[in-house]
Amino acid sequence: MKVLVTGGAGYIGSHVVKELLECGLEVLVYDNLSNGSRKSLPQEVNFIQGDLTNHSDLDFQLRNFRPDSVMDFSGRIEVGESMKTPLEFYRNNVLGLTNLLEAMAKNNVKKIVYSSSASVYGNPKKMPISETEKHNPTSVYGETKVIAENMLAFYRQIYGIKFISLRYFNVSGADKDGDIGEDHIHETHLIPLVLKTALGDNEKITIYGTNYSTKDGTCIRDYVHVTDLAKAHTISMQNLLNGGPGGIYNTGAGVGYSVKEIINIAKRITGKNIGYIEGPRREGDPTKLISDISKIQEELGWIPKMSNLDTIIETAWNWHKNNPEGYNGK
Ligand code: UFG
Repeated sequence: MKVLVTGGAGYIGSHVVKELLECGLEVLVYDNLSNGSRKSLPQEVNFIQGDLTNHSDLDFQLRNFRPDSVMDFSGRIEVGESMKTPLEFYRNNVLGLTNLLEAMAKNNVKKIVYSSSASVYGNPKKMPISETEKHNPTSVYGETKVIAENMLAFYRQIYGIKFISLRYFNVSGADKDGDIGEDHIHETHLIPLVLKTALGDNEKITIYGTNYSTKDGTCIRDYVHVTDLAKAHTISMQNLLNGGPGGIYNTGAGVGYSVKEIINIAKRITGKNIGYIEGPRREGDPTKLISDISKIQEELGWIPKMSNLDTIIETAWNWHKNNPEGYNGK
């Protein structure tokens, strides 16, 4: 079985590639290395440095490799950044997926597992959030994921491309073996920044907003371990290959933690003092996101096993502590 993994050299993609290789599948990674590293992948894995906005190259790679399925981790992911450079997000996330789906249709590749996001919900009315909640994104990033899911539905209708779209909540942690982890070129995510502060790379972490309507005034998120998420991808792909109809699923842990709670848990686990500054809100941030994961549990049998916060922060800390320069130091 052959899988094309676009954006496979990034944080989530590399954990999924590891899982796919452990399942004995043949993998081709296609990545422009704008936010990923070749060193996050085993040397022997097939790798092409390419960009999804390059339609003809993508078409050529699909024709050559002939995958049974595609997994897409490409595109931009930072909620706050999307409110500063919207064009980057529309170009990478929307045009990139259009090219990918066109190349799939042309080359008769009929299955895709897509990386969507809890950002499609914005500030939902009901908590925990189920997949039936209305789309109401508060950021350009979330909007690109709504557009992507609508495109997937039309490509299914027009070309019969089946998809599973996984709406990620806050993915974090690192592989338990310690050889791969989170290393973004420009880090914006809370847990790695908190741990970099524990390591002394940053003097203090800035909390973006302390006047939200939550228990301690800071935003609440639902953190899911990257290895659990990787398993959600292989289960989803298997389901599609076995003839499943596809669909849209939340992938979270179903538990919410505030920014201040994350800092306190990280202090306990690292044994370090982690100072913070109370700053203004970051544009595009919803107040609270907690998933209802009953649909994926019932329909696909996915159960998160490593997504308690201690395990998430312990595995992430193990990676950051041993790789303070990320893949650059490897
Ligand atoms: N935060 C801070 N200080 C920082 C960084 C983050 O206070 O230095 C806060 C944010 O304001 C937010 C929370 O920590 O309230 C989490 O922020 P992240 O940047 O870690 O993650 P986001 O919730 O913004 O977004 C992440 C992914 C998205 C995904 C989303 C799903 O980047 O791709 O989770 O909830 F869609």
